[in-house]
Parts: sequence; C-alpha cells; structure tokens
Amino acid sequence: MKKYNIPTAAYVNFDSPSSALSYLEKAKYPIVLKADGLALGKGVLICNTLEEAKAGVKEIMLDKKFGSAGNKLVVEEFMTGREVSVLAFVDGRTVKTMTSAQDHKRARDGDEGLNTGGMGTFSPSPFYTEEVHDYCCKQIYQKTVDAMAAEGRSFQGVLFFGLMLTKDGPKVLEYNARFGDPEAQVVLPRMKNDILDVIDACIDGRLRDIDLQFEDNAAVCVVLASGGYPLSYKKGYVIRGLDNFIGKDGYYAFHAGTKRTKEGIVTNGGRVLGITAKGKDLKEAGKNAYEAVKWVDFTDMYMRTDIGKAVKDD
Ligand code: GLY
Repeated sequence: MKKYNIPTAAYVNFDSPSSALSYLEKAKYPIVLKADGLALGKGVLICNTLEEAKAGVKEIMLDKKFGSAGNKLVVEEFMTGREVSVLAFVDGRTVKTMTSAQDHKRARDGDEGLNTGGMGTFSPSPFYTEEVHDYCCKQIYQKTVDAMAAEGRSFQGVLFFGLMLTKDGPKVLEYNARFGDPEAQVVLPRMKNDILDVIDACIDGRLRDIDLQFEDNAAVCVVLASGGYPLSYKKGYVIRGLDNFIGKDGYYAFHAGTKRTKEGIVTNGGRVLGITAKGKDLKEAGKNAYEAVKWVDFTDMYMRTDIGKAVKDD
C-alpha cells in the first residue's frame, strides 16, 4: 500500500523487541501491535498504555503466543471512525464493487465482550456515501487491483476491502481474498445478477461487460451462536424450526456451524446460523430479521439484540 500510495494506517516494522520497545516509549496511544504473519485473525492487540504495549511485545515477540508470526512485529497507528466492508469482484484488471456492509464483531450488545468472527451485519452502510465510494474507487479499489497486476500477481476472484472511514478520509484496514462472513449474507441476497454469470466473467476476464446491480433495499443478518462462543461451547444440539423458512421470500437461514445427523440438523460450531431478512430500509430489515430469529431455536443459543441498531440511533 505504501509503494502504490493506497491510503492506510501509518506503520513501522520491528524484528527486535528492544527496538520496538524504544519506539513504543515515545509513541502516541492507543496504538496497534500486529504479529507479522498468519495468526488465525488473532494476532492483533490494541494497547491503550505503554504498559499494555510492553506486555504485548512480550506476548508476541518473546512468549511467541502466535508462533513464528511473532518473529516480526508491526506497530501501527490506531485508526478511529466507522468501519465498512466492501466486497468486490475482480477479473485481474476490472474491479466491480458490491453494495457496502457493516459487521458487528463483538460478542455482546453495545459492542461489548470478546471479539468474534462477526455476530451480525447490515447492508448498506449509511456512512458509505456516493462521495466516499467515488474516492475509494479512485484511491483504493482500482489502485489495489493495478498494484497486484504490476507486482506480477494479478488477482481474479472476490476481494474484501475492510475500510475505516477516518476524519482524514477512507483508509484500508485489511484485505481478504474471499467473501466476508457474515457480510456475504446481507450483500448477496440484495444482488440482482446471477452470481454464476459474474463468476464466469471474472474467470474469462470480461467483468467490464457485466452490469452489476443491487436492489434498492436493505438487509440485516443476525448470527445465532452457541452459548460460550467465542470461547468454549458444546456442539450437537438439535436445531428446531428450520422448516419455517421454506417459501418465505426475503428471509434466509444460512448454515455456518451445523451438521446433518440421524436426529436432524444439529449445532456443530460457534456461529451456528446467520438469519437474514430484507426490508425496504434498515429499520424494516432489522425488524424482520429479529422476527425470523424466533422461528428457530436450539439449547444454549445466544445472539446480539442490537444488530444494525446503533445506526438507527445515530
Ligand atoms: N466478518 C469479517 C470477515 O469475514 O473477515
């Protein structure tokens, strides 16, 4: 991103704990420490004080909590603002973005509790305006795809742009080479195109010819999780009520952690189901989604009750 002038957080790399610590003595807080390698999405620490940062350096670089990913440390500026996820189809040269979405990553209402893979989403994000979109098209999306081609690694597939809308403009928080979960559960139900046509166009390098269109409405997805997630939880509870979704237009029960057994479909993961509903706006979609979660249940089920709500109260 630095090389291609794509807006992102300022950062510095360290390969020794002592140089990281002397930098952190003079740094501005909060600050972000990242293990520079694969860490199952867990190698990121947000430190509010120097004491926390010192403990973080120890955890990542000395105790090797995230394994060899902690051989190098990235110290990154802490960005504040609204987080938005934008998924895009890419055919190597052309990038076409899908409608925006926003994830709720914390386990509990009011963005409290532990970080999870995502407890619910809504789409579109009211903060992702036309103006923001135009800026991102020029400064982030096309530049990213061009940069990958220029590096000899042209990309074909779905690219996930995790953005932070900061007071200095949108910046890239992260990229993922996949759909977002549970972002896809609110974005794809709103897509008008046949997804296979779009995928074929990505493979054949003719995405330019596709008129990607989304419905002028909204969707909300509420994740039904196993009690105890994201820590330990039990599996194997029978899920009741899935048939209630049959024939209900605009309502979806997406399976995440489930398994088919002789007893029926049972829980088999932390995030069990994503219940999505559409509506004319976010308020109606949220009301519909929270109505639909009542159609299913399993032992120890829990969910957040405020998905999309923070937006309405803003
Ligand atoms: N929901 C965030 C992700 O899929 O990475």
